[in-house]
Parts: sequence; structure tokens; C-alpha cells
Amino acid sequence: MLGNLNTVLAPVAGRACAVGAFNVTESTMFKAVVEAAEELRAPVIVQVSPNEVEFCDVELYRYFTDRLWHSPIPCALHYDHGKTFEGCMGAIRAGFTSVMFDGSRLPFEENIALTREIVRAAHAAGVTVEGEVGSIGETVDFETGAVDAMVYSDADQAARFVAETGVDALAVSIGTVHGLVPVGYKPKIRLDVLEGIAARVPVPLVMHGGSGMPDDQVAQACRQGISKVNVSSEFKRAYYERVAQVVASDPSAASPTKIAAQAVEEVKEIVKHKIELFGSAGVVACC
Ligand code: 13P
Repeated sequence: MLGNLNTVLAPVAGRACAVGAFNVTESTMFKAVVEAAEELRAPVIVQVSPNEVEFCDVELYRYFTDRLWHSPIPCALHYDHGKTFEGCMGAIRAGFTSVMFDGSRLPFEENIALTREIVRAAHAAGVTVEGEVGSIGETVDFETGAVDAMVYSDADQAARFVAETGVDALAVSIGTVHGLVPVGYKPKIRLDVLEGIAARVPVPLVMHGGSGMPDDQVAQACRQGISKVNVSSEFKRAYYERVAQVVASDPSAASPTKIAAQAVEEVKEIVKHKIELFGSAGVVACC
């Protein structure tokens, strides 16, 4: 069943666990994510970034929404890291049921003003909105372990942002970084920062940068107030590594059904592991 963020997060409300939000580009990874969630009876968020939306034809999202409507689990199609009003509106026109507006690199007041405008338009269409305060880190150099300066979210700012914008969920910067974690970089989720925000903010909290974070820290964050965890790089990298492996080991392999099928299974295993870690396996009673 396709709904928005509210629909998908409702089954985990008050249960100290989180819903997985997996970034997909095309139909094979989409298939892997949805099937993994259905097999585990977990709500799921399929999300797509603006550069991926540009890469694909908009008709792809007709297939995504149709498939998700017919799923027995609660699903949402979420536009991740929208950077403009127009981008978010385009996603809504394409059938996305939820959008993120990431104004985290804007001056705080500007972030509030633009997010509020997007919330007003999106809510009129029954679409939910995720905002962001603070700034989540980004892997800059995988070889040297360089990560750009992250700005931890501040609890007072987070509370004010939510009250003044009306967002349905809030992405917080608590020590995770986007992208594969560089060798030698030791990520640390600041549970103290999370605790302070969770005490002040009445909407579900979102953790970005779910790839390569230590399992125990992620599981603890989900128990302590994170309701949505974004994962992208880890399973995409595994997908292409498996494709490369199959191609290298079988010179006659030329069919997607032969090559991609194994990569889909690889992604399903990773997605299932994440869902178990987030604690949302089995929370859907319907199927
Ligand atoms: P990773 O690529 O680090 O998993 O981050 C995904 C993400 O946060 C997308 O918004």
C-alpha cells in the first residue's frame, strides 16, 4: 500500500525502532529493496535523489508507484535531498508521496522560510515533508579518510525549525556521514546529541548516512529516537561488486537475468540485515 511518511512511520511509532529508507536509481535495485521488505513484513521507504531523477525518465515512477500501491506492506516513495522548490514540486507531479527539502547549507532563517513554503504546497497535495537542520557530513576523499566539516544539529534550533515549518520528519546531524566510510575513519554516532533533540522535537527523527556505520551504534540510535534511517552507498557498491564478480568469473555471461539476478540477491541480503538492525522486521501484521 502506497502512502506518505506518516503512513509508513505509524507502525513503528512508540516501538523504539526505525523504518529503512533505501535510495534506488533503477528497477533492479527497486525490486531488491521492495522484495526484501515484503519478505520481512517491514514498512519501507523507497527514495530517489535529484540527480537520479534527472538520470531516469519520469515514467519510471509510474511503475514504482503502481508496484508500491499493490504491495501488502506500507510503502512511501520519497524524493531525497531536494534542493529547490521547483525540484520538490516536480517530484510531487511525478507521483512521489513524500519529499525532503534540504536547506541545511542555507542560513537558518532562509531554511525555515523555504521549508515552510514547500510544506504548505506539499501538504495541500497530501505529500509529507522532511526537513534538515545542522549539516550531515560528506565523505570527501575515500583514500585519505577526509570528511567535510559536519555541523551537529542543535536541539533548540531543531525544536524551533519544526514548530515554524510544520515538517513531518526531521533529518538530524548526529555524527553519520554520507557515502562509503573511508578506511581509517572512525564514525561515532553522538547519542547524547540525539537524546537532547529527541526530548525537544515532536516529529520523527531521520538519520542519514546509514552506510558503513557500526551496527551496534545504529541499533542503539533506533532504540533511542531515530525513526527513519537512510541507506544508499553500501548496497549500491555491493551490487556493482557482485556484477563485476559475475562478469569476471564467466566470460559467457551477457544476460541481465544472469548477471543482475545475483546482484539483486546480494542487495536483498544487505537490505534485510539493515531492516533487522533497525528493529522493524515483522512490524506489519497484514501479510
Ligand atoms: P549513505 O550513502 O551513506 O548510505 O547515505 C544515504 C543517505 O543518507 C541518503 O540521503
